[in-house]
Amino acid sequence: MKIAVIGTGYVGLVTGVCLADIGHRVTCIDVNITKIRLLREGKSPIFEPGLQEMIQRNMLENRLRFTNEINAGIDQASIIYIAVGTPSNEDGTADLSAIQDAAVSIAKHIKHDVVIVTKSTVPIGTNDRIKAIIEDHKVDKSIRVDIVSNPEFLREGSAISDTFNGDRIVIGSDSEKAADIIEEINKPFQIPIFRTSIRSAEMIKYASNAFLATKISFINEISNLCEKLDADVTEVAQGMGMDKRIGTHFLNAGIGYGGSCFPKDTNALVQIAGNANHEFELLKSVIEVNKKQQKILIEKAKKRFDSLDGLTIAVLGLAFKPNTDDMREAASIPVISELIQSGARVLAYDPIANENAKRVLPKEVTFCKSIEEAITKTDCVFILTEWPEIVQFELAKYPLFMNRAVIFDGRNCFDPKKLLAYRIEYHSVGRSSTYLEVLKPSILK
Ligand code: UDX
Repeated sequence: MKIAVIGTGYVGLVTGVCLADIGHRVTCIDVNITKIRLLREGKSPIFEPGLQEMIQRNMLENRLRFTNEINAGIDQASIIYIAVGTPSNEDGTADLSAIQDAAVSIAKHIKHDVVIVTKSTVPIGTNDRIKAIIEDHKVDKSIRVDIVSNPEFLREGSAISDTFNGDRIVIGSDSEKAADIIEEINKPFQIPIFRTSIRSAEMIKYASNAFLATKISFINEISNLCEKLDADVTEVAQGMGMDKRIGTHFLNAGIGYGGSCFPKDTNALVQIAGNANHEFELLKSVIEVNKKQQKILIEKAKKRFDSLDGLTIAVLGLAFKPNTDDMREAASIPVISELIQSGARVLAYDPIANENAKRVLPKEVTFCKSIEEAITKTDCVFILTEWPEIVQFELAKYPLFMNRAVIFDGRNCFDPKKLLAYRIEYHSVGRSSTYLEVLKPSILK
């Protein structure tokens, strides 16, 4: 099958490369010339484990190519994936301009029957609009265009393994023939296929992300309660998760969710509901809880030190989660901005996101090349991302390098009992702080 993929962001690039890897001939198209140049050299513009090797292998085996020219890209393709971005407008709605541009370009350049597959996350009803735009603009009116909504569920950092080991592939179409073709294309992945209407498929994507975000905000609320009532949220989550109806995943309390999807999609779904005259109260609360949760470590630090003015604080982990250099909606952005506003000096370190972080964090931040450098002579450490390097960092080094060994851990990386042995004052999320019972502040350096 000859396939074209429009958009080489996370979703488009991973989709295109994985489709090539299972044997299809794929052309990835993007308007960004720098990106295409990089890709043609076999270099991945994003950090994603295993992706660059897969790009190079499939290019070598002549199944994968990259182009700026939509015309050349879709010329021979009988299937065209749309995987362009749908960022948030200021009011939370999805910006669909890239989708519209893609639809118009497709319409102007197609020369034979095609199946259009929408991978981008789009508001319910958008695929109908895509079809209408293409029908309006297509030059040869005899060409048949079928639409399939095929939402993506991959996570950054494990995108390739998610594509090959996903729980389901959703195929939404009103054309049996088009759905059959897309089912056939996806067969080599050996993942259960679920066929629905176009609108249900569009909704499945939003509902899934909103539900996962709800799970996170729920456990974060429980964690706040655990702190007040002396329970341990990690034990509570484990005990809850043993009930198969609840499940163990997405019950890690912390400083809330970030990234390119959950914040964007939850806001968009609230707007979509509003447009349909339905107030999605639960989801609004999920979003509010998440905003508050991002600041939870600041509150703890203010309580502990009275004022943050004049303190030197190391922030370890800047990306919105481990295994990515993505800073979109990362908790580190509001946290560090507030630390600086409160008069603290911030030394920041991330294993790979430092460069991206420099573009979005306040200019007052000092970026460090190692954990040791970041924690040297600091008054406390904030852990914001649970990178393996941070979790496995030798605990004995904290009291050695820091002015006073106080850790505020937003990802519950450590067993509080263990930190006591290292004479580290430890504040985490949804669990008691350790110094209160055993370490007296006078023992601390
Ligand atoms: C998410 C969805 O998982 C994926 O299916 C969808 O296609 C895109 O959005 P992603 O944004 O890559 O993927 O990240 P994910 O691993 O889901 O984590 C999102 C955020 O939630 C991160 O900030 C993470 O730290 C946080 N999180 C996750 C928690 O705070 N607790 C958890 O238990 C799980």
